Amino acid sequence: MGRVTTEDLWYHYGRTRAARDRSVPACFHWTWSQDGGPGPEILGNLTGRVVGDLGSGTARHAAHLATHHSPARVVAVDASPAQQAMALDLFRHLTPRLRIVPSDAVAHLRSATGTYDVLYSVFGAADFTDPRELLPAAFAALRPGGRLVFSTLAHYLGGAPAQHDAVHADIPAKTPDGEAATMRRWVLQEHVWTKLLGEAGFTEIGTGIPFVDGGSRAASTLLVKAIRDGGTRTG
Ligand SMILES: C[S@@+](CC[C@H](N)C(=O)[O-])C[C@H]1O[C@@H](n2cnc3c(N)ncnc32)[C@H](O)[C@@H]1O
Repeated sequence: MGRVTTEDLWYHYGRTRAARDRSVPACFHWTWSQDGGPGPEILGNLTGRVVGDLGSGTARHAAHLATHHSPARVVAVDASPAQQAMALDLFRHLTPRLRIVPSDAVAHLRSATGTYDVLYSVFGAADFTDPRELLPAAFAALRPGGRLVFSTLAHYLGGAPAQHDAVHADIPAKTPDGEAATMRRWVLQEHVWTKLLGEAGFTEIGTGIPFVDGGSRAASTLLVKAIRDGGTRTG
């Protein structure tokens, strides 16, 4: 049984890789397995664009975009002090094209009205934040014509179906010292994401399962796209 905690439950995530691999990734993947499926073309042409990664972890995806896609800047937002520290250690040298920002995504978006051309999340804040807060905040932070893209679980790890309503599950997590805890994760059916995005004001909402990841954890990736209408398209 997990316990309520305010400790950083993302302390361990990506730590082993961060210790042995300091490179900017040559590729950008949306999938759980990070080895196939579509790439950054889903984000449109990023040249000169202001891009935000919501729940960026060690900022590998953001570092790739900042290095290979000529944006005005990529803002990598993460609420975890541990992830922030690893991201700075790995990719601080990419400043100012990459900005690593320690913040809750909703708070950051609410302070950035009309700032972004593109917002994205790779199993990041969109999975772990109440969508009734995150999606309206993302809508407001996008410029007219901007787009939101995120990858999330199509069903729970192991195969249990996604939720029919906008409800979270408490999933197992670990404190920095290895004690069991729980955190909230939103694993929602496609029609639920579509409804929530529509309620937040988005249009041209598209979902699809471009890639079913193999392996013992039986993860499948759901890719979700939406537009903040009313301006020139980003790409
Ligand atoms: C599974 S990790 C994915 C990290 C990264 N996107 C990647 O693919 O490696 C989830 C990340 O989302 C961050 N996160 C979750 N909810 C967040 C929120 N509301 N605001 C900012 N970061 C959040 C966590 O701190 C964690 O680093």
